[in-house]
Amino acid sequence: MTPGTHFSHVPHPSPATPERVADVLASPGFGQHFTDHMVTIRWNTEQGWHDATVRPYQSLELDPAAMVLHYGQAIFEGLKAYRQPDGSLKSFRPEANAERFRSSARRLAMPELPDDLFLGSIRELLAVDGRWVPEQAEESLYLRPFMISTEKGLGVRPAKEYVYVLIASPAGSYFSGGLKPVSVWLCTEFVRAAPGGTGAAKCAGNYAASLQAQAQAAEQGCDQVVWLDAMERHWVEEMGGMNLFFVFGSGADAKVVTPELSGSLLPGITRDSILRVASDLGYSVEERRVSTEEWEKKVGTGELTEVFACGTAAVITPVGRVKHADGEFLINGGDAGEVTMRLRDTLTGIQRGGEDRHGWMHTF
Ligand code: PLP
Ligand code: COI
Repeated sequence: MTPGTHFSHVPHPSPATPERVADVLASPGFGQHFTDHMVTIRWNTEQGWHDATVRPYQSLELDPAAMVLHYGQAIFEGLKAYRQPDGSLKSFRPEANAERFRSSARRLAMPELPDDLFLGSIRELLAVDGRWVPEQAEESLYLRPFMISTEKGLGVRPAKEYVYVLIASPAGSYFSGGLKPVSVWLCTEFVRAAPGGTGAAKCAGNYAASLQAQAQAAEQGCDQVVWLDAMERHWVEEMGGMNLFFVFGSGADAKVVTPELSGSLLPGITRDSILRVASDLGYSVEERRVSTEEWEKKVGTGELTEVFACGTAAVITPVGRVKHADGEFLINGGDAGEVTMRLRDTLTGIQRGGEDRHGWMHTF
């Protein structure tokens, strides 16, 4: 398939009523409700990518021996469509998601979806389901592209058949507390990813492997788990679905620091964007290793003033409390910090139609 690929359309026989859409958009939550349609594109070794179709949102039919069910070739992306002040729809750096989706596919020995098909699938879905994009400032349409192996067989090898699917879900705040700072649990018992593993890929297995630790965090009364490096359990990597930032100092002299890409953490698009936005705002920025000892010690001395998590779903969410096996401590008295909120306002401003000096917004 080449640029300009044709998508077939199977319209929904009974799309949601305007009342039903309004009901969902009044309180969308996260990942609870889905739009009327989805896009599917198939791949096999003979035909490559083919059969691009916009169809009613429906169950997928899978053979019980479909290889994804046994050996887990499954990758996904997450990005959002935002309604602009003039009513048009844009998304934030979707080309970066397309590229990361190809990179995840390579790591899982899956076929790479060409960027024009990735972007084309979003264009086609928004064209039919645009009415599902909320208008409120903190809300958006969360887009979830994913790919699974569908070939029937139990031999362990890369499959010869796959399906790419795009679904979409109106989204409010990822955390039920909205902008309230979250609490985190520093996990030393389990690891999310090891050097040479799949930590830098957005594959389903990484999330399955995180759930036991996430349950442990909840038992400890925390919202999220913070993952440490696999070798020393000492260096901060990221959270379950978010990257982490540390703010040293305050005001115009603040320095914004994030763990360097170790190969075992996800190269977040929000992370990359915040590094650039922070420089634009005049903060110094640094990508380096941050240890759990430095984190606690420098919060204690007042040098480390703010910590926040970031990601497409979480946007920028302040971290207020940190708990570990030997104790706990508050950051900024448990409140959201000034630099965190300035970065958040700048980033969400770009997404909502403000000045876009890097040309990050993509019109669909
Ligand atoms: N880390 C993990 C494990 C994630 O799942 C996500 C979410 O996509 C992120 C970080 C943040 O990435 P992004 O900013 O591209 O959404
Ligand atoms: C995202 O932010 O898009 C994520 O994928 C995080 C989480 C919902 C898995």
